[in-house]
Amino acid sequence: MRAYLLLPIGCLAAATLLSACGGSSDNAPPDPALVAQGQQIFRFDTFGDEAQWTDTLRMHEVIAAAVDPTTALSVGLKVDADALPPSVVEGIRNGSVDLKSPATTVALIKLDAVVGIKGTVQAVDGKDALVRVGVTCALCHSTVDNSFAPGIGKRLDGWPNRDLNPGAIIALSPALTSAMKAVYNSWGKGKYDPRFNIDGSNKPVVIPPAYGLDGIHRITFTGDGEDLAYWNRYVAVTQMGGLGSVVEPRLNLSVTHGSVDLVSAKLPALQAYQLSLAAPAPPAGSFDAAAAARGRLVFEGGGKCATCHSGASFTDANATLHPPADSMAEPESPSYAARSATKQYRTSPLRGAWQHAPYFHDGSAPTLEAAAQTYNGKKGLGLSAQDIADLAQYLKSL
Ligand code: HEC
Ligand code: HEC
Repeated sequence: MRAYLLLPIGCLAAATLLSACGGSSDNAPPDPALVAQGQQIFRFDTFGDEAQWTDTLRMHEVIAAAVDPTTALSVGLKVDADALPPSVVEGIRNGSVDLKSPATTVALIKLDAVVGIKGTVQAVDGKDALVRVGVTCALCHSTVDNSFAPGIGKRLDGWPNRDLNPGAIIALSPALTSAMKAVYNSWGKGKYDPRFNIDGSNKPVVIPPAYGLDGIHRITFTGDGEDLAYWNRYVAVTQMGGLGSVVEPRLNLSVTHGSVDLVSAKLPALQAYQLSLAAPAPPAGSFDAAAAARGRLVFEGGGKCATCHSGASFTDANATLHPPADSMAEPESPSYAARSATKQYRTSPLRGAWQHAPYFHDGSAPTLEAAAQTYNGKKGLGLSAQDIADLAQYLKSL
């Protein structure tokens, strides 16, 4: 038997729901009804992408045959503890719920408890069977607070799931060639390549937060869109396989799935919900305040960081994008910027940076210290070890 530690989650959960703290809004206050509708879409809407995940990839068969809850948690899938009825909670605690049985995964999917997975479960020959399955935005852009057990807790929407291994999950599909499986298996956890199935190049990027974006009008690492809806449409159709259309002349891209549009009408609410997600404040005691105060002087002075990381969200994104060489992850091959619509990079907003290591679009800096050190080395800033340590504490405080 293992004893589970119940952590207080009040402040973290509240922080994700409040739009007031962190980041300046240049919009009218969001309509609460639209935000609530957007939350449902973000968490539970597949846009009809079962066409891809069920009809093409046959993931319903894979899940039912081989994905028990222990396996699901090991590839980073999360379970929403609030969706579990008391009997299931008790059963997990006392071991009577079998976490080594795929049937348990199907039961959890039926409860809408597997974050980002939406299934249709029907009785077939008197037994529950998973007949359709699709994915939602929450798959990659939500995690849980682990308050019940590792991987099981309250939803944290907008927090990137850096434990998730999307490539390894997709590679389980029996519909893929071994060459395709090798590509998907090469990505690793917390990363995904949202352009691989468009341009055939293979270099995944880290899954970014979907919080802290209010007031920022360049979306994605490369600033491809001026609002979230632009990219939400792109992902819903081209990556999730939802039914609808995307036309992007800069990428010579025109994709339509199906004959109905299950995406467009949902975009305003979906965007309103994401804009309501503030970057989470750093946990109490997670940084040294005196060192952070010194680090701020480095950030604004000798580090020259504030020349690009400016304003309330620490980005000059609304004013400008940057040539590839301004990314500390470049030169890389293939260049992610070169594959994008803008061929440039957006200065990353830094609020909530403490939460989502590793850093830079390719995840090449494991910590904020490493990110600061990379700037110092590549740009010859001449910062001392003390300056770097202070700068890292400041970054942790944002
Ligand atoms: C399979 C994982 C996955 C799914 C599912 C997914 N995304 Fe993403 N998302 C990513 C990755 C990877 C990026 C980074 C792409 C880039 O910036 O070039 C991204 C980027 C974003 C961004 C840009 C963040 C920024 O800093 O500008 C937003 C917003 C976003 N996604 C929202 C959504 C929404 C809404 C959905 C559902 C319609 C969704 N995503 C589905 C992986 C995913
Ligand atoms: C010339 C503009 C510019 C300057 C100056 C600059 N940055 Fe950046 N910063 C960027 C860009 C562009 C990115 C996105 C790079 C990428 O993802 O590949 C970025 C990304 C980052 C990230 C990663 C954030 C994330 O979410 O992954 C950190 C941390 C960061 N910068 C810190 C700093 C610090 C500290 C300094 C000063 C030593 C600094 N930056 C100076 C433009 C700049």
